Amino acid sequence: MDHIQLHIKDVAVFLPEEEILKQAPQAVECNRALHEGTRAGSDFLGWVSLPSTITEEALREIEDAAAVLRSRCEAVVVVGIGGSYLGARAVIDALTDSFNWLQDTGRRKDPVILYAGNNISEDYLHELMSYLDDKPFGLINISKSGTTTEPALAFRLLKDLLESKVSKEEARQRIVAITDAARGALRTLADTEGYKTFVIPDNVGGRYSVLTPVGLLPIAVAGINIRKLVEGAREIEQATASSTAFDFNLPAIYAVIRNELYKRGKKIEILVNYHPRLHFLAEWWKQLYGESEGKENVGIFPAAVDFTTDLHSMGQWIQEGERTIFETVLTIRQPNQKVVIPHDARDLDGLNYLEGKRVDEVNKMAELGTRIAHVDGGVPNLLIELPELNEQYLGQLIYFFEKACGISGYLLGINPFDQPGVEAYKKNMFALLEKPGFEEATRTIKARL
Ligand code: PA5
Repeated sequence: MDHIQLHIKDVAVFLPEEEILKQAPQAVECNRALHEGTRAGSDFLGWVSLPSTITEEALREIEDAAAVLRSRCEAVVVVGIGGSYLGARAVIDALTDSFNWLQDTGRRKDPVILYAGNNISEDYLHELMSYLDDKPFGLINISKSGTTTEPALAFRLLKDLLESKVSKEEARQRIVAITDAARGALRTLADTEGYKTFVIPDNVGGRYSVLTPVGLLPIAVAGINIRKLVEGAREIEQATASSTAFDFNLPAIYAVIRNELYKRGKKIEILVNYHPRLHFLAEWWKQLYGESEGKENVGIFPAAVDFTTDLHSMGQWIQEGERTIFETVLTIRQPNQKVVIPHDARDLDGLNYLEGKRVDEVNKMAELGTRIAHVDGGVPNLLIELPELNEQYLGQLIYFFEKACGISGYLLGINPFDQPGVEAYKKNMFALLEKPGFEEATRTIKARL
C-alpha cells in the first residue's frame, strides 16, 4: 500500500531532532487520550473511529440518496457554512476537472455542485438564483445546530425558488437535510416537509464531519467514490492507533514539530499548494486548525497560499518579512494529466530549453527552488507528499490532518473540540437585527453606536 509521506529534513536547521524526540512521550499520550477520551472535549471524539465504524448500510444509504439527486438534477446546491460545507468542497474541488463545472450546457455526466449559505451577500444569492432559474436543481441543506443564520436564509430563498418551478412533491424529492437527530429548526422543517434526512452524530463537531453524510453525500453527488475516500482515511486511522510508536505516527510528528516551532516564535503556519484544485483543501484545513487551536489567547495562525500564483503577491513577505512563519507544503508526486511543452521554430519566448519536458516538471522545479529559497530565508519547511491526487490519498490526508489537529491541540493545552469564540459575532448581529430574545443585548449595543 502506498501512502502519504511527511518529510521533515528542512526543519532540522531550526529544530534539532533531539528537541522533537523529547516531546514524543507527550505526543503518544495525547494520541492515546484521543482514543480513550481522557482529556477535554471527550464528548466530541466520534470522528476518531468514523472511518473504521461506518457501515455498509450507511454508505449505501448515502449512495442511494446521491443517485436520486444525480438522476433529477443538473445542479445541486450545498447549503452550509464552516464545517458544514468546507470538507465537501475541499474533496469535490480536488477531484473534479477544473473546468467541469463550465460544461453545463450539454448533457453532463455529473451535476454541477454549487454552494450557498456560506455568506450573506445579496448579490451572490441573486446571481446564484438567476443561474439556477432555468435549470433542474436540488438542495442539500446542512446544519448541525439547525439554527445557523447564513444557511437558513439561503435555504429559505432557494426552497422558494425550487417550489416556484416544480411541484411540491418534486421539490421534496430534490431536497435532502443533514442535521441533528432531534433538535433545531432544520430538524423541525425537514420532518414537517417530509425531506430525506441524514443525522450528524452528536459526538462529531462540524469541522471533523467530512466523513459523515455532511461531506460524503455532496461528494457522492459529484460522482466521487466515497468508499475509496473512507478506505484511505481508515488506513491512517489504523496506522495511528492508540498503541502506535511516535516514530511511526506521522500526525504526531507533524503535531510536535508545529508546536515546537510555535514555542520558538513561529506563530504563523502557511499551507502551500501548487495545484489550484487544492485551494479549498487549504480552506478546510484553515478552519480545522483555526477553530480548534485559536483560543485562550494562544494558537498558531493558519494561513494558506496557492503557488506559484501567490509567489507573485506573497512571495516577498514569505522570503523577507517578519521571521514568524513556517510552511507546510502539499506536493503531488504524479499529476493526473500529461501536457508536454512543444518546440517552437522561432523560439521568440525563449522557452525551447524546456521543449519536451512536462509542465509538471517546471512546477516541481518551481516548488523545489522555492522551498530551498524559503529555508535559506529562515522559513522552516515541512513537506507532505501525496503519491497522486485521488480519493484514497485524500482520505489519508484528511484523517492525517484531523488526527494531528487533535494531538496538536492537546499539546498546546487547549480543548481542540469547542469554539466558544464563534458566538460573539452572532450575539451582536442578532442584537443589531433585533431578534426576539435579544432585547437586552440590543439596548446595550445600540448605546455604543
Ligand atoms: O466546525 C464547526 O463547528 C463550525 O464551523 C460549524 O460547522 C459552522 O458554524 C456551521 O454550524 P452548523 O452546522 O450548526 O450550521
